[in-house]
This record gives sequence, structure tokens and C-alpha cells, in this order.
Amino acid sequence: MREGQLYINGKFVNSNSRKTFVSLNPATAKPFGIYQAGNKKDVDNAVKAAKKALPSWKKTPAPKRAEILFEVSSLLRKNKEKLAKIMVLEMGKILKETRGDVQEAIDIFEYMTGEGRRLFGHTAPSELKNKFCLTFRIPLGIVGLITPWNFPIAIPAWKLAPALICGNTCIFKPSSDTPGCAVELIKILEKACIPKGVVNLITGSADDVGIQIIKHPNLNGISFTGSVETGEFITANAGLKKVGLELGGKNAIIVMDDADLDLALDGIIWGAFGTTGQRCTAASRVIVHKKVKKELEEKLVKKAEKLRLGSGLKETTDIGPLINQKAVEKSEYYTNLGKKQKAKLLCGGQKADMNGFFFRPTVFANVKPKMRIAQEEIFGPIVSLISVSNLNEAIKVCNSVKYGLSSAIYTNNIRNAMIAINEIEAGITYVNSSTIGAEVHLPFGGVKATGHGREAGWTAIEEFSEEKTVYIDYSGKLQRVQIDTVDVKKK
Ligand code: UN1
Repeated sequence: MREGQLYINGKFVNSNSRKTFVSLNPATAKPFGIYQAGNKKDVDNAVKAAKKALPSWKKTPAPKRAEILFEVSSLLRKNKEKLAKIMVLEMGKILKETRGDVQEAIDIFEYMTGEGRRLFGHTAPSELKNKFCLTFRIPLGIVGLITPWNFPIAIPAWKLAPALICGNTCIFKPSSDTPGCAVELIKILEKACIPKGVVNLITGSADDVGIQIIKHPNLNGISFTGSVETGEFITANAGLKKVGLELGGKNAIIVMDDADLDLALDGIIWGAFGTTGQRCTAASRVIVHKKVKKELEEKLVKKAEKLRLGSGLKETTDIGPLINQKAVEKSEYYTNLGKKQKAKLLCGGQKADMNGFFFRPTVFANVKPKMRIAQEEIFGPIVSLISVSNLNEAIKVCNSVKYGLSSAIYTNNIRNAMIAINEIEAGITYVNSSTIGAEVHLPFGGVKATGHGREAGWTAIEEFSEEKTVYIDYSGKLQRVQIDTVDVKKK
């Protein structure tokens, strides 16, 4: 069995709690590794280390900080296959996808390496003569990064890379379902010579670690990806920290009657069942024009039933397990709810008869927009088909949920596409492509209950820094803005 420790002030250490917890391999339900159950004292120690490391990290020129990030991306690239295999064993998704997860981390560290030579501020004219105005970026200070298990290396990397390039020091708390992947990422950072105290890892529970981070008076920012409930807790308890929240979705693919149906089908299968439906961006609703509903249903069921469940390490596997028993129960709960509310179960709807947390790809038809299976995030391989009569109705249904992360439309009509792009309430809209597959150099995030802030791309820099405004008056006299300004018209 693998083992891992906390990482505080540049050292791997045991927790003060003297307690540990086990992370499971979801494909076998057997232990994957044993990890430290951190506590308040550990968080305090980590914050102390981060505070001590901050002045010198902040002063390190950004292009120099970038050299470490570049080294991280190179080491991730070198270790890609090894990390991808570890991730399959701890998180469950298939090897192709875990390789993609590591690739996303490589990409964001590379992108943020480039940011080390940008971190642009602004210059602006002054109202007064002989006065110069500019802004430049300053770090927030110490930031808490709380991350989920579904992208156990990519999402921490999305947060760490921009936080570090901006000059922040970090307290990183990964999900207790994937502490092993977090430890592997920290080992890479250590190898890349990240100075001690700049990144600290505390594994453990939400109560003993997460809440301590959220409420800690010495932290200046929190970046969180996870549930709405936790997002609301953070909003209520983080005080005046700058908070970024990415809280999931109920993403829809709209399929118009003029769409290339086979293309749409590929997108639906990938969006609904890729990562076993466990992406914030997963396509959990398909809003289909009534003219093509029947054909789409038939073809979709045929494809869904052919998907092969199994160990993510096998090249022949299409779908891995869910993350844990609770996730299986959640998918069972929503399947029963769908049946009770008279949606038509076309396939799947049950746990697979195998060891581990496998659930069959599930398709519901005749779903009404207000049914709970069409409103709530399930985070499992369950897709709801809703039929509509026209684009207006499709967009109305698409927008009728509390979330607003990703969305997609399949159409060959440019007007339909443009209307969807403009009217769908979401942070991301894809045209003729599925709801998943965001690229690291573009903003990622949502509207409404999905939260606020944008990860990745240039917007990640805005999340992890503030702009400082500078006025340089070289007139040699007192100039009073708004008072000494010359009114050009009157002169
Ligand atoms: C998530 O599920 O929280 O666009 C992130 C995608 C991935 C990221 C998903 N690149 O599906």
C-alpha cells in the first residue's frame, strides 16, 4: 500500500493528530494508500511557514519564479505515464483521461511560465500635467487551495501555477478521495526546488483541515472547486478573503433538427459518460428538437449499451468506476427519483455486477425540465433527454437550472448558433462540440450557482493578484486633482 505525509515548510511530516486515513481504489474498493489526517495545529504550522516564505517569494522576480514553474512542467512531462497510472488506481478514470489530466497540469504550468514575463499592468493618462499613472500586479499573500478528486492533478495545478507565478504562498488541501495524487504533485514541486514554505500540503477532513483554512485569519484568498453547499459555507465563513468558487453544473447539449446527428451523438456520449459523468462540465441534459428525438434516442441507447466498464488501466475500457460508495448511492437515488417522476428509463439505471463502484451508463427519456433529475447535479453517468419544439424553448429549458457552467449546441445553422451563444446563461458555450474539454489558456468558470471568478487563462492571474495603482507626480508642485484641472472649453 502507498503512503504519504503532509508537506510543511519544505519537509514531509506526520500530522500532530497521529491519525491517518485510507484512500480506496474505486475499481476494486480495496485500499490504495494511507495518508495523514491533518488537524488545526498542522494548518497553523503550514500558515506560519507560508507567512515566513512570503516576503522572499514575493520579491523573487516573476521570470525567476517562472523558472521553477517551467521545471515543474518538464518534470510532469517526464513522469506523465507514471502519474497517469497512479491516478487510475486512486481516482478510477481511464488511462487516456488520466494522461489528459496530467497533460492539463503540464499545459497550465507552461502557460503560467510565460505569464512570468507578462503579468501586465496598465498605464493610463493623468488628468494633470507632468503626472504619470500606472498599475502593476501584487500577490494576495497566503492563499488556500481546496480541490476536488475528479481532476486530482489538473485542478490543483490550475490553482497552484497562477497562485505561484503571482507571488503567493499556498496552503493546499486536496480531496480525501485523492490524497495520493496530491502527494505526487508535491514531490514534483519539491524536485523543481520550490523554496520551503511556499507550498504546503495538508491532507485530511473538511472539518479538521478545510474549515481551519477557510476561517484562518492569516489567509488572504481561497480558491475552491466543489459543491454548492461548501461554496456557500466558504462565502459565509471566509471573512474578507478574496474567494474564487467553481461549484459545478447541470450542463446541457442542445441538438437542433438541422444538426449532424452522428456528430452530436459522439459529443453526448463523451460529455455524459466521459470520466463516468464526474465532471463539473459533464453533459447531464440533452435538449433535443422533437423532429430528431426518436432517432437520437435509439442511436444513443445503442451506443451507451456498448460502452465497456472496467479497470481504467485496460486499453479496452471505456468507462471506469464512480469515485466511492456514496457516489453509487447518489446515482441509484437519482435513478429511482427519475422513475418515480415518470421519466422513461431507456438503459442502465443500476450498479454493475462487479467489484468496485461501477454504475451502468444511464439514459432517461421523456424528462420534463422541472424534474429533479433535470435540475440537480448528479455527478454520475446519467443523462436526461428533454424534447422541445424550437430553439427558443431549448434555450429557455437550458437556462431553467440554477447552475451556469458549460453548454453546447449542435446545429448547422449559423443563426441558431449565434442566438445560443448570446442567450445561454453559462460561462462556456461550445458549438458543434461537447460540454467538456476546456483549454487552459482560456477563462474557465460559470455564472449563477456555479459561483464566480475565472480559473485558467489570463483571468487566473486576476484571481490570484490585485492591481496596485501608482501615481507619479513630477511637476515639482502640489497638483490637486479634480480641483486644479483646466476646463478646456472655457479657456
Ligand atoms: C471540472 O470538472 O471541474 O473542460 C473541470 C473540462 C476539463 C475540466 C473540467 N478540462 O471538462
